[in-house]
Amino acid sequence: MISLIVHRGAWDIPESLVDAHRKGCAAALGIGWNLLQKGGCAVDAVEQVIRFLEDDEAFDAGRGSHLNAVGEVELDASIMNGKTLRCGAVAAVHRIRNPISLARKVMDESEHILLVGTGAERFAAEHQIPTCDPKELIAPREEELWKSIRRKGRYAGRDAFHKSSDRGDTVGAVALDKEGTICVGTSTGGTLNKYPGRVGDSPLIGCGSYADNAVGGISTTGWGEAIIKVVLAKTVIGLMETNGGNGQQAAERGVELLKSKADGYGGVIVLNARGECSIAFNTPKMARAYMTSQMKEPFVAV
Ligand code: GLY
Repeated sequence: MISLIVHRGAWDIPESLVDAHRKGCAAALGIGWNLLQKGGCAVDAVEQVIRFLEDDEAFDAGRGSHLNAVGEVELDASIMNGKTLRCGAVAAVHRIRNPISLARKVMDESEHILLVGTGAERFAAEHQIPTCDPKELIAPREEELWKSIRRKGRYAGRDAFHKSSDRGDTVGAVALDKEGTICVGTSTGGTLNKYPGRVGDSPLIGCGSYADNAVGGISTTGWGEAIIKVVLAKTVIGLMETNGGNGQQAAERGVELLKSKADGYGGVIVLNARGECSIAFNTPKMARAYMTSQMKEPFVAV
């Protein structure tokens, strides 16, 4: 059994962007699926899927992410290997086009799990991860958006994501390879106009990502402050540990807890140890796709 599930955010995706989200999800899924089908490992599949999504500047991950309160892009990402529980994460990086690859480098070549800011960028330079001019990460569309909300005033980072309609283009993927390893990765630019140095759920193991081969893998999207309060990814894993690995039931309960305990909106993708894929969200839409070796065609929906 091999399986792959991908998301590119849960929010009120306007009709004009639905097609782009659908095509982007399908293309990302195709990249990872080809790799898994050729016998590639789950870690490579997740890294390649997320690099592709980060490189698409239409979304809030990699170039094209939201700007923070001082007009900079600050990126967060995490990756976790469910066989070893090894994980790596980076937060508040300004000079990295593909933070998921830096997170993987932290997982593979560091004794640590989470590196932030200049320390993470120093680690990148020492480990042949390309760095860039921070301005290269800024898309004109996001600069315009940031200037317009600054002109209106009163807009704080906390205003993003706490309504079901707010933009949440965080991207994530979970893969199961033929060796039975589950890997998860999540990457984001975080919330619009966030305070500099703000870190969301995506790079926090247990909040944005969690994988354990014995149970499954989870990637989350939505309002980071609420997701952190309910430790959403690990909460869903915990639910699966006690419900016989029912990913759909656990995903739905996790999203209920996000709303009832933290007034949060967002979504989760789940891949259980049997390779079954599940999704739950409480936003109007969520861009998502999955494929397993038991399916003839991929499932793609927005
Ligand atoms: N879920 C992404 C963030 O809040 O940063």
